[in-house]
Amino acid sequence: LATSAGPAAAPVSPPLSDPRRGAADRQWPTGFVWGAATAAAQIEGAAAEDGKSESIWDAFAREPGAIALGESPAGGVDHYHRMPEDVAIMRSLGLDSYRFSVSWPRVRPDDGAWNARGLDFYSRLVDELLSAGILPWLTLYHWDLPQSLQETGGWTNRDTAFRFRDYAEGLHAALGDRVSHWTTFNEPYCSAIIGYAGGQHAPGHRDAREGLAAMHHQHLAHGLAARSLHALGAEQVGITLNLTNAVPNDPTDAVDLDAARRLDAIWNRAFLDPLLRGAYPADFLEDVRHLDFDALVRPGDLETINAPIDFLGVNHYHDDNVSGHPLPPTAVPGLAPTDRPTSNPFPGSEHITFPRRQLPTTAMDWEIHPDGLRQLLVRLEQDYPELPPLYITENGSAWDDEVGPDGLVHDADRIHYLNDHLDAVAEAIEQGVDVRGYFVWSLLDNFEWAWGYGKRFGIVHVDYATMERTPKASALEYAEIIGRAKAAQ
Ligand code: NOJ
Repeated sequence: LATSAGPAAAPVSPPLSDPRRGAADRQWPTGFVWGAATAAAQIEGAAAEDGKSESIWDAFAREPGAIALGESPAGGVDHYHRMPEDVAIMRSLGLDSYRFSVSWPRVRPDDGAWNARGLDFYSRLVDELLSAGILPWLTLYHWDLPQSLQETGGWTNRDTAFRFRDYAEGLHAALGDRVSHWTTFNEPYCSAIIGYAGGQHAPGHRDAREGLAAMHHQHLAHGLAARSLHALGAEQVGITLNLTNAVPNDPTDAVDLDAARRLDAIWNRAFLDPLLRGAYPADFLEDVRHLDFDALVRPGDLETINAPIDFLGVNHYHDDNVSGHPLPPTAVPGLAPTDRPTSNPFPGSEHITFPRRQLPTTAMDWEIHPDGLRQLLVRLEQDYPELPPLYITENGSAWDDEVGPDGLVHDADRIHYLNDHLDAVAEAIEQGVDVRGYFVWSLLDNFEWAWGYGKRFGIVHVDYATMERTPKASALEYAEIIGRAKAAQ
């Protein structure tokens, strides 16, 4: 398989012959969506071009120690200038959908007047996708708040939720004639709790109350925007959550069980319950009562938040093994390798530890346990009768990829990860879970937030010196899985 178009035909790595080819041999539901995902701040670059204003990630990147090696999203992987080439790569791989995000400060700098040049970029992207036969899945917020809104409190300011609704409405006016699939937020846990309470993501604050306020206001923003988008005629509106199994280290130990319960509340249920049921979990409210969380929630908020949605996006990478017993200190999973202190809003959580299990790990030091994805999906189906159809909107792995002497990238580990996780999805479907699509993270190697560019998640390699794209062996594997799934229908 070769890239069919684009300015420079990239060399392509051959697929590995590997006995574990489960995913390609599965029978997938009719119409199952096959895609790849990216995010504006991670790939676009052109951080100050064509009228774009600063995002909180542009500002955060200037803080010493915030990002590994002092890197920044400024250049990204130059997708802003190479968009047609990137769409041609997607087409050559047989993707039928592409999940991307819009940079709020690019289309509405400083949340002020709309920027025609910024809107034009997304309009051209959408047209390019549609003419390649690829369905655009647009995410409104993948973490890059205009810095000007941060200066008035960012997500801790309730008013930001209403600014977000206006942004959603304006974007729908510009692109709604061609975009049918709208996602309000990507991983609000990360942009609210890690950004405002943990400190490892922009804006880098470490305040438990701020983290909770940001979370509630993002929920509210989602509800306001989802209702507006539906009223304006959007066909499919949803939200993407990162959901993580909190596995008790010793399932017979009450202390470990309670640690897992606390983390399950803040990682998963504090998002799922208000969005799907219009209520915060009782145990979560108890855990955060001392932080005056109740005062944030105004009459009517939960009804707004519980807006009907057409799909739930699930991002899943790994499980975490949780203990309530002090252990030798370990890195907190999912957080950046900086020495910035963390602030965790949950009483008792200062004692939570993450003992290592006998599992292989990726370059992020994340455990590989594909059956965790099946377990998560089955649990969602069992625990939430209100559950809309699910899409895996992100799943993937980072490895220390190298271009071999043959000029190609033989990423066998990523191929295994991909096949084994697709197998887990297929098993969940067989067990009755309504999963309708899968988006691999990521199309391209890119800016991995506080870790910088060193953590490569792409199925397409990017040479950061030349910006040359080379589909890795995993891209070919994925193309073959897609081809066979479609041929079998
Ligand atoms: C989740 C985020 O949505 C994405 O931006 C990030 O790069 C991947 N996970 C990998 O960490």
